[in-house]
Amino acid sequence: MSTPTEGWHGWDAYARFYDWENAQTVGRRDVRFWADLAGRADGTVLELGCGTGRLSVPVARKARRFVGVDRSAAMLRKLRARLRRARLTARASLVRGDIRELPFRADRRCQLVMAPYGMLQSLLSDDDLAATLHGVARVLAPGGTFGVDLAPGLPRWGEYARRVGLRGPMSGGRRVTLIESVRQVPGQGLTVFDQEFVETRRGRRKSYPVSIAFRTLSVPEMIERLEAAGFAVDAVLGGYRQEAWSPDAEIWVVIARRR
Ligand SMILES: C[S@@+](CC[C@H](N)C(=O)[O-])C[C@H]1O[C@@H](n2cnc3c(N)ncnc32)[C@H](O)[C@@H]1O
Repeated sequence: MSTPTEGWHGWDAYARFYDWENAQTVGRRDVRFWADLAGRADGTVLELGCGTGRLSVPVARKARRFVGVDRSAAMLRKLRARLRRARLTARASLVRGDIRELPFRADRRCQLVMAPYGMLQSLLSDDDLAATLHGVARVLAPGGTFGVDLAPGLPRWGEYARRVGLRGPMSGGRRVTLIESVRQVPGQGLTVFDQEFVETRRGRRKSYPVSIAFRTLSVPEMIERLEAAGFAVDAVLGGYRQEAWSPDAEIWVVIARRR
Protein backbone atom coordinates (compact mmCIF):
# COMPACT_ATOMS: atom_id res chain seq x y z
CA MET A 1 0.00 0.00 0.00
CA SER A 2 1.18 3.54 -0.59
CA THR A 3 2.09 5.79 2.35
CA PRO A 4 -0.68 8.23 3.31
CA THR A 5 0.46 11.77 2.59
CA GLU A 6 -2.01 13.38 4.99
CA GLY A 7 -2.79 12.43 8.58
CA TRP A 8 -6.53 12.56 7.96
CA HIS A 9 -6.31 9.97 5.17
CA GLY A 10 -7.82 6.62 6.01
CA TRP A 11 -10.19 7.64 8.80
CA ASP A 12 -13.36 7.61 6.70
CA ALA A 13 -12.72 3.99 5.76
CA TYR A 14 -11.73 3.16 9.34
CA ALA A 15 -14.98 4.57 10.83
CA ARG A 16 -16.92 1.35 10.19
CA PHE A 17 -14.51 -0.63 12.41
CA TYR A 18 -13.15 1.99 14.79
CA ASP A 19 -15.37 1.20 17.78
CA TRP A 20 -15.06 -2.55 17.28
CA GLU A 21 -11.27 -2.38 17.29
CA ASN A 22 -10.87 0.19 20.05
CA ALA A 23 -13.19 -1.64 22.43
CA GLN A 24 -10.54 -4.37 22.33
CA THR A 25 -7.45 -2.15 22.48
CA VAL A 26 -7.48 1.25 24.23
CA GLY A 27 -10.94 0.60 25.69
CA ARG A 28 -11.81 3.06 28.43
CA ARG A 29 -8.40 3.46 30.04
CA ASP A 30 -8.13 7.20 29.31
CA VAL A 31 -11.81 8.13 29.77
CA ARG A 32 -11.67 9.11 33.40
CA PHE A 33 -8.61 11.29 32.95
CA TRP A 34 -10.22 13.38 30.18
CA ALA A 35 -13.64 13.51 31.84
CA ASP A 36 -12.05 14.77 35.09
CA LEU A 37 -10.09 17.42 33.22
CA ALA A 38 -13.30 18.53 31.48
CA GLY A 39 -15.14 18.63 34.82
CA ARG A 40 -12.57 21.12 36.13
CA ALA A 41 -12.83 23.40 33.09
CA ASP A 42 -14.97 26.43 33.76
CA GLY A 43 -16.31 26.87 30.23
CA THR A 44 -16.20 25.35 26.76
CA VAL A 45 -14.25 22.15 26.13
CA LEU A 46 -13.01 21.51 22.59
CA GLU A 47 -11.90 18.05 21.48
CA LEU A 48 -9.62 17.91 18.45
CA GLY A 49 -10.37 14.82 16.37
CA CYS A 50 -13.42 13.69 18.34
CA GLY A 51 -14.01 10.70 16.04
CA THR A 52 -16.94 8.46 16.95
CA GLY A 53 -17.11 9.92 20.45
CA ARG A 54 -15.37 7.28 22.53
CA LEU A 55 -14.33 10.18 24.79
CA SER A 56 -16.73 12.90 23.67
CA VAL A 57 -19.80 11.41 25.34
CA PRO A 58 -18.31 11.04 28.86
CA VAL A 59 -16.50 14.37 28.45
CA ALA A 60 -19.67 16.18 27.30
CA ARG A 61 -21.46 14.83 30.39
CA LYS A 62 -18.93 16.63 32.60
CA ALA A 63 -18.34 19.76 30.51
CA ARG A 64 -20.40 22.91 30.67
CA ARG A 65 -20.32 23.03 26.92
CA PHE A 66 -18.65 20.61 24.52
CA VAL A 67 -17.49 21.14 20.94
CA GLY A 68 -15.98 18.36 18.87
CA VAL A 69 -14.17 18.88 15.59
CA ASP A 70 -13.25 16.17 13.12
CA ARG A 71 -12.60 16.03 9.41
CA SER A 72 -14.25 12.64 8.84
CA ALA A 73 -17.98 12.75 8.08
CA ALA A 74 -18.21 9.00 8.64
CA MET A 75 -16.76 9.26 12.16
CA LEU A 76 -18.97 12.24 13.01
CA ARG A 77 -22.12 10.42 11.84
CA LYS A 78 -21.55 7.80 14.51
CA LEU A 79 -20.89 10.42 17.17
CA ARG A 80 -24.06 12.36 16.28
CA ALA A 81 -26.14 9.23 16.84
CA ARG A 82 -24.35 8.62 20.14
CA LEU A 83 -25.00 12.14 21.41
CA ARG A 84 -28.68 11.80 20.50
CA ARG A 85 -28.96 8.51 22.37
CA ALA A 86 -27.21 10.05 25.40
CA ARG A 87 -29.49 13.14 25.20
CA LEU A 88 -26.50 15.43 25.09
CA THR A 89 -27.29 17.37 21.92
CA ALA A 90 -28.29 20.51 23.86
CA ARG A 91 -24.84 21.05 25.27
CA ALA A 92 -22.65 19.38 22.66
CA SER A 93 -22.00 20.53 19.12
CA LEU A 94 -19.97 18.96 16.37
CA VAL A 95 -18.16 20.67 13.56
CA ARG A 96 -16.76 19.00 10.50
CA GLY A 97 -13.43 20.64 9.84
CA ASP A 98 -9.69 20.38 9.85
CA ILE A 99 -7.80 20.98 13.08
CA ARG A 100 -5.06 22.75 11.11
CA GLU A 101 -7.57 25.50 10.35
CA LEU A 102 -9.94 25.50 13.28
CA PRO A 103 -13.28 26.57 11.87
CA PHE A 104 -14.21 29.00 14.67
CA ARG A 105 -14.31 32.74 14.34
CA ALA A 106 -14.41 33.51 18.05
CA ASP A 107 -11.04 33.74 19.78
CA ARG A 108 -10.23 32.93 23.40
CA ARG A 109 -13.49 31.15 24.14
CA CYS A 110 -12.35 27.70 25.27
CA GLN A 111 -11.20 26.77 28.74
CA LEU A 112 -9.91 23.36 27.72
CA VAL A 113 -8.70 22.03 24.39
CA MET A 114 -7.95 18.32 24.35
CA ALA A 115 -5.87 16.42 21.81
CA PRO A 116 -6.36 12.85 23.04
CA TYR A 117 -5.33 9.45 21.75
CA GLY A 118 -2.24 10.67 19.93
CA MET A 119 -4.22 13.22 17.94
CA LEU A 120 -1.23 15.47 17.29
CA GLN A 121 0.57 12.45 15.82
CA SER A 122 -1.92 12.60 12.94
CA LEU A 123 -0.17 15.77 11.83
CA LEU A 124 2.50 14.56 9.47
CA SER A 125 4.68 17.65 9.14
CA ASP A 126 6.02 20.47 11.27
CA ASP A 127 3.94 22.96 9.31
CA ASP A 128 0.76 21.03 10.11
CA LEU A 129 1.68 20.87 13.79
CA ALA A 130 2.53 24.58 13.93
CA ALA A 131 -0.75 25.55 12.22
CA THR A 132 -2.74 23.42 14.68
CA LEU A 133 -0.94 24.75 17.76
CA HIS A 134 -1.41 28.29 16.51
CA GLY A 135 -5.17 27.66 16.14
CA VAL A 136 -5.42 26.13 19.61
CA ALA A 137 -3.61 29.12 21.11
CA ARG A 138 -6.09 31.39 19.34
CA VAL A 139 -9.26 29.68 20.61
CA LEU A 140 -8.06 29.09 24.19
CA ALA A 141 -8.69 31.72 26.83
CA PRO A 142 -5.52 32.99 28.54
CA GLY A 143 -4.77 30.53 31.35
CA GLY A 144 -6.87 27.87 29.60
CA THR A 145 -5.59 24.29 29.48
CA PHE A 146 -4.30 22.34 26.50
CA GLY A 147 -4.14 18.58 27.20
CA VAL A 148 -2.21 16.34 24.84
CA ASP A 149 -1.38 12.67 24.94
CA LEU A 150 1.21 10.95 22.81
CA ALA A 151 2.19 7.36 22.12
CA PRO A 152 5.97 7.76 22.01
CA GLY A 153 6.78 4.14 21.24
CA LEU A 154 5.45 4.02 17.68
CA PRO A 155 8.85 4.45 15.95
CA ARG A 156 10.18 1.50 17.96
CA TRP A 157 7.47 -0.90 16.82
CA GLY A 158 8.97 -3.78 14.89
CA GLU A 159 7.69 -3.99 11.36
CA TYR A 160 5.46 -6.90 10.44
CA ALA A 161 3.30 -7.92 7.51
CA ARG A 162 -0.24 -9.22 7.42
CA ARG A 163 -0.54 -10.43 10.96
CA VAL A 164 -3.99 -11.37 12.20
CA GLY A 165 -4.50 -8.82 14.95
CA LEU A 166 -8.04 -9.26 16.15
CA ARG A 167 -11.06 -11.28 15.18
CA GLY A 168 -14.55 -11.59 16.52
CA PRO A 169 -18.21 -10.69 16.23
CA MET A 170 -19.45 -7.21 15.39
CA SER A 171 -22.99 -5.77 15.43
CA GLY A 172 -25.48 -6.84 12.76
CA GLY A 173 -24.46 -10.49 12.74
CA ARG A 174 -21.08 -9.70 11.22
CA ARG A 175 -17.73 -11.26 11.98
CA VAL A 176 -14.56 -9.30 11.43
CA THR A 177 -10.91 -10.24 11.11
CA LEU A 178 -8.26 -7.56 11.21
CA ILE A 179 -5.09 -8.30 9.25
CA GLU A 180 -2.49 -5.71 10.07
CA SER A 181 0.91 -4.63 8.77
CA VAL A 182 3.22 -2.04 10.28
CA ARG A 183 5.85 -0.07 8.36
CA GLN A 184 8.32 2.52 9.53
CA VAL A 185 9.31 5.43 7.29
CA PRO A 186 12.27 6.69 9.33
CA GLY A 187 13.24 9.60 7.06
CA GLN A 188 9.86 11.20 7.74
CA GLY A 189 9.43 9.92 11.31
CA LEU A 190 6.28 8.09 10.22
CA THR A 191 4.75 4.83 11.37
CA VAL A 192 2.19 3.45 8.93
CA PHE A 193 -0.53 0.95 9.80
CA ASP A 194 -1.88 -0.90 6.78
CA GLN A 195 -4.98 -2.71 7.88
CA GLU A 196 -7.36 -5.00 6.10
CA PHE A 197 -10.69 -5.55 7.82
CA VAL A 198 -12.33 -8.68 6.44
CA GLU A 199 -16.03 -8.73 7.19
CA THR A 200 -18.23 -11.79 6.75
CA ARG A 201 -21.97 -11.83 7.00
CA ARG A 202 -24.25 -14.67 5.94
CA GLY A 203 -21.41 -16.32 4.08
CA ARG A 204 -20.51 -13.14 2.17
CA ARG A 205 -16.97 -11.83 2.55
CA LYS A 206 -15.93 -8.24 1.99
CA SER A 207 -12.54 -6.64 2.46
CA TYR A 208 -11.98 -3.05 3.62
CA PRO A 209 -8.41 -1.70 3.34
CA VAL A 210 -7.35 1.16 5.63
CA SER A 211 -3.97 2.92 5.76
CA ILE A 212 -3.18 5.39 8.52
CA ALA A 213 0.06 7.22 9.28
CA PHE A 214 1.37 8.78 12.50
CA ARG A 215 4.37 11.01 13.13
CA THR A 216 6.15 10.89 16.47
CA LEU A 217 8.16 13.68 18.08
CA SER A 218 10.15 13.41 21.28
CA VAL A 219 8.90 15.17 24.41
CA PRO A 220 11.56 17.93 24.20
CA GLU A 221 10.61 18.53 20.55
CA MET A 222 6.92 18.73 21.42
CA ILE A 223 7.57 21.03 24.37
CA GLU A 224 9.64 23.31 22.18
CA ARG A 225 6.76 23.51 19.62
CA LEU A 226 4.22 24.19 22.38
CA GLU A 227 6.29 26.96 23.92
CA ALA A 228 6.88 28.56 20.53
CA ALA A 229 3.10 28.63 20.00
CA GLY A 230 2.44 30.48 23.27
CA PHE A 231 1.99 27.72 25.83
CA ALA A 232 3.66 27.09 29.17
CA VAL A 233 4.06 23.40 29.94
CA ASP A 234 2.83 22.68 33.48
CA ALA A 235 3.30 18.90 33.59
CA VAL A 236 4.52 15.92 31.61
CA LEU A 237 3.13 12.67 33.00
CA GLY A 238 3.80 9.03 32.22
CA GLY A 239 0.18 7.92 32.09
CA TYR A 240 -3.45 8.75 32.80
CA ARG A 241 -3.14 8.22 36.56
CA GLN A 242 -0.62 10.96 37.18
CA GLU A 243 2.29 8.50 36.87
CA ALA A 244 5.69 10.19 36.82
CA TRP A 245 7.09 10.59 33.34
CA SER A 246 9.74 8.10 32.23
CA PRO A 247 11.26 7.63 28.78
CA ASP A 248 9.71 4.17 28.47
CA ALA A 249 6.21 5.12 29.59
CA GLU A 250 3.68 3.82 27.08
CA ILE A 251 1.75 7.11 27.09
CA TRP A 252 2.97 10.62 27.66
CA VAL A 253 0.49 13.21 28.84
CA VAL A 254 1.37 16.88 28.47
CA ILE A 255 -0.62 19.54 30.30
CA ALA A 256 0.04 23.02 29.00
CA ARG A 257 -1.47 26.40 29.71
CA ARG A 258 -2.14 29.28 27.34
CA ARG A 259 0.15 32.08 28.44
C1 LIG B 1 -7.34 8.36 16.91
S1 LIG B 1 -8.88 9.04 16.32
C2 LIG B 1 -9.39 9.71 17.86
C3 LIG B 1 -10.87 9.72 18.05
C4 LIG B 1 -11.30 10.03 19.49
N1 LIG B 1 -10.73 11.27 19.97
C5 LIG B 1 -10.90 8.90 20.42
O1 LIG B 1 -10.12 9.15 21.34
O2 LIG B 1 -11.37 7.78 20.24
C6 LIG B 1 -8.33 10.44 15.39
C7 LIG B 1 -9.45 11.27 14.76
O3 LIG B 1 -8.85 12.45 14.22
C8 LIG B 1 -9.45 12.77 12.98
N2 LIG B 1 -8.48 13.58 12.21
C9 LIG B 1 -7.27 13.19 11.75
N3 LIG B 1 -6.64 14.23 11.16
C10 LIG B 1 -7.49 15.29 11.25
C11 LIG B 1 -7.42 16.65 10.84
N4 LIG B 1 -6.33 17.13 10.21
N5 LIG B 1 -8.46 17.47 11.12
C12 LIG B 1 -9.56 16.99 11.76
N6 LIG B 1 -9.69 15.72 12.17
C13 LIG B 1 -8.66 14.88 11.92
C14 LIG B 1 -9.80 11.45 12.37
O4 LIG B 1 -10.86 11.59 11.43
C15 LIG B 1 -10.19 10.62 13.61
O5 LIG B 1 -11.56 10.68 13.84
